[in-house]
Amino acid sequence: MGSKIKRIAVFTSGGDSPGMNAAVRSVVRTCAFLKVDCLAVYRGYQGMIEGDFVTMDARSVNNIINKGGTILKSARCDDFRTKEGRKMAYDQLIKAGIDAFVVIGGDGSFRGALKFNEEYNFPIIGIPGTIDNDIFGTRYTLGFDTALNTVVEAIDKIRDTASSHNRLFFVEVMGRDVGHIALNAGVGAGAEEVLIPELDLGLERLLDSLKRSKKSGKSSSIVVVAEGDKIGKNVFELKEYVEEHLPIYDVRVSVLGHMQRGGAPSAFDRVLASRMGVKAVEAILEGKSNLMVGIMDSKITLYPIDEAIMGHTKIDKELIRVSDIMST
Ligand code: ADP
Ligand code: F6P
Repeated sequence: MGSKIKRIAVFTSGGDSPGMNAAVRSVVRTCAFLKVDCLAVYRGYQGMIEGDFVTMDARSVNNIINKGGTILKSARCDDFRTKEGRKMAYDQLIKAGIDAFVVIGGDGSFRGALKFNEEYNFPIIGIPGTIDNDIFGTRYTLGFDTALNTVVEAIDKIRDTASSHNRLFFVEVMGRDVGHIALNAGVGAGAEEVLIPELDLGLERLLDSLKRSKKSGKSSSIVVVAEGDKIGKNVFELKEYVEEHLPIYDVRVSVLGHMQRGGAPSAFDRVLASRMGVKAVEAILEGKSNLMVGIMDSKITLYPIDEAIMGHTKIDKELIRVSDIMST
């Protein structure tokens, strides 16, 4: 390919997500295939500042495609937010002869990469790794599909006990700013209601909906609540509120927490990660920078990172309608 780029670094940063290892593997193997040196950076920007690098070859990434978490570790690094910290990172990259990097992470990690590029004109390409699916320019982020399947499986199990005891469960799922996991899991697991940050359902509507649910003959109910929901009450307060206003309900709460970020990636995420890693290395070798690899209409695409991190992706209104119809 006659590129000036001879050595590429890859790292994972911010919140981990299933599929990150598959993406690392893909970047490393694509470098090996195209005969470009590849170095891994441990612990994201923190490791970059400390020069925590290791040379990777095709065999360094054996047997990781199926593993959750990230073998490169991830970190949140306050020093990288400072000019001095980024200068230290730059010096380490130059010392190691690195010409470009691929960052696998969320919007914060991308923000850091853009800042770095702005200051040092250093080529950077992003791969979106977050279970939240909240990044523009890609229909799916790495890990969303796996997390969604994990949540649906967990709710199925909660449903078993809910229905045995005729109970109402509030199930809190991840999604600090967006309700993609909550809404999709709600539809996939047949929840009666879904509370998401994008929609303020309101406490009155929630009570009405639960009353209707009872009247229609349902013996148990599941309400999926995104952690960033704006109803004004957390799941435990919701339980108390419903028990006070609808004493017919025996209410329980289940907070799924970080189990949603773990586990073996789904086949979908493994394939997506493999495709994204190839595209990321090819883009760098073609002299591109400041782009994020995404998937749109089943095609792997490149999208400006500055646009990818502008706010959060919108919730699917049609899916909200489907969810409402299904809870009849
Ligand atoms: P995520 O990538 O999952 O959104 P964070 O928001 O925690 O996770 O970001 C990961 C890391 O990226 C931060 O710990 C920090 O080192 C770096 N970072 C985030 N925002 C910036 C910024 N505005 N400038 C420089 N570095 C940043
Ligand atoms: O990965 C995204 C996310 O799962 C959010 O939905 C959640 O609020 C956050 O990470 C929690 O991350 P941590 O516990 O690492 O701060």
